[in-house]
Amino acid sequence: CGIVGYVGERNSLDVLMGGLRRLEYRGYDSAGVAVVDDDGAMETAKRAGKLQVLADELEANPLHRGGTGIGHTRWATHGGPTDVNAHPHLGDDGRLALIHNGIIENFSELKAELLAEGFTFESETDTEVAAVLLGKEYRATGDLREAFRNTVSRLDGAFTLLAVHRSEPGVVVGARRNSPLVIGLGDGENFLGSDVAAFVEYTKRAVAIGQDQIVTITAGDVVVTDFDGQPVEVEPFDVAWDASAAEKGGWSSFMRKEVAEQPEAVAKTLLGRVVDDAVVIPELASFGDEELRGIRRITIIACGTASYAGMVAKYAIEQWARVPVEIELSHEFRYREPVIDDHTLVVSISQSGETMDTLMAVKYAREQGARTISICNTQGATIPRESDAVVYTHAGPEVAVASTKAFVAQIAALYLFGLHLARVRGTMSAEAIAEQLHELQAVPAKLELVLAESEKVAQLAHWMADTRSVLFLGRHVGYPIALEGALKLKELAYIHAEGFAAGELKHGPIALIEPGQPVFVVVPSPRGSATLHPKVVSNIQEIRARGARVIAIAEAGDAAVLPFADEVLRIPLAAPLFEPLLAVVPLQIFAMELSQAKGLDVDQPRNLAKSVTVE
Ligand code: G6P
Repeated sequence: CGIVGYVGERNSLDVLMGGLRRLEYRGYDSAGVAVVDDDGAMETAKRAGKLQVLADELEANPLHRGGTGIGHTRWATHGGPTDVNAHPHLGDDGRLALIHNGIIENFSELKAELLAEGFTFESETDTEVAAVLLGKEYRATGDLREAFRNTVSRLDGAFTLLAVHRSEPGVVVGARRNSPLVIGLGDGENFLGSDVAAFVEYTKRAVAIGQDQIVTITAGDVVVTDFDGQPVEVEPFDVAWDASAAEKGGWSSFMRKEVAEQPEAVAKTLLGRVVDDAVVIPELASFGDEELRGIRRITIIACGTASYAGMVAKYAIEQWARVPVEIELSHEFRYREPVIDDHTLVVSISQSGETMDTLMAVKYAREQGARTISICNTQGATIPRESDAVVYTHAGPEVAVASTKAFVAQIAALYLFGLHLARVRGTMSAEAIAEQLHELQAVPAKLELVLAESEKVAQLAHWMADTRSVLFLGRHVGYPIALEGALKLKELAYIHAEGFAAGELKHGPIALIEPGQPVFVVVPSPRGSATLHPKVVSNIQEIRARGARVIAIAEAGDAAVLPFADEVLRIPLAAPLFEPLLAVVPLQIFAMELSQAKGLDVDQPRNLAKSVTVE
């Protein structure tokens, strides 16, 4: 869910709605706001559906002007997306309003207790339990901060909570555990947000709130304490993002913009990190060369698209640094008994840096003694703060729910790390590293060439708008790309899609092939992968013979695919490990165009949220 809070001179509703618009990628089942004016009058509005539904409602029935407010955009967990279940929830007989992100695990016990005491509830949410409890504590203490401390100490699970009370105009109180909250420091005004996107339009000075901390903002002050009320030192940082970077800027969708920004996403991730043909990653200073030489195994953990970036990186890091790399979905890793020790390096990948599954896996890994590195795109996010070091991808804000530019930036960052490791471990010569770095630096220009061919992919997607099932095949680094191509199509176009390792075809998936079945095949380079190329071409023949409609993604000049492919989408020449950075692009565009051809919302596909902050 997305959360915003504001205290200052402005009409808080404008700040809240602007912030929610930028945070809507975090969930868009319902939205709501509460505004308190200087005289202590509080008004709230909330609506099921996308933020626009609430905006329309506020247009028709405006709230009063007030300098204090909180706003929420929801991704439903407890209770379906209805008006009643939308946040804020009220407590203290309607005098306080509360919003929440996360899951309160002991809510049924608390609810039973409060019901027994005669309190009543309107919704099915866990959040309302926190609101009612806070109201009860406020009655007892008459102080919002103290009431907040008493309330959070009773809650189990993950939460970010913000609340306002009409008896304390000019104050917003927040708390967090396992769920993000960032302060935006203004001049005569202060902000709270799930991430910096909420307020970057107004201030670039921010503070990330730590685990189990409570924050109180007023127009002139910010106070952070722990759950016992002890003051906590804060460390402000400057947000590198430009506010305009989180705007559509003339594009018809964020996804279209973000797909087009991929050359820049890679270039910026490399910027300053390649010096004199060698990798320089100052962020890894806390990992001495001795320690990196001592690593016996790397475990990469991630979810969704980020996990496919990790799969691609496995091929590269093993080849370059000769260290075993395993990649595992965070939620699977966490709940088995993985073998980890202090010679295991755990690398997490997360665009948002907030994915709860990944966060929990990182914490678990640290508890087991592993050292952890985070590959992340969001400054001040929780996962980097819970890790020993962070290598930021500099893809800029990614707003569309399905990930595109963050994916290529993640691969670029992981490749830099892999080459750094190869130098430290002495597994590659300086010349060989330089050669790979040149390949990496050539990627942005090659991405431009792939993007220039978008129209052909768009045509294809429009012809295939009625398709009900699509298969994707790839081998070696093309395999994760096949998986990512299938994921994009599921997410954006709601089409059943599967990705397979091409070599696995004959062991099962070939049974799915019937006349007309579309199959995308990521074909390795005939130059770079002389042994694999003919094998994949044979796979194409096998499925073609059974009637498949083959769309090949192949290197420019690869003529071997021509007799067997119905369509060929070309990518520029690149060394094998760099092909995935290019081959993924036509697949992203295909899914995006097909979504649009079907009239779907490409930025906010149904049921999804960009950063899933619940396990
Ligand atoms: C969600 C999104 C996916 C994303 C995944 C991981 O499920 O819908 O698009 O790949 O989370 O997100 P992260 O922020 O951790 O990279």
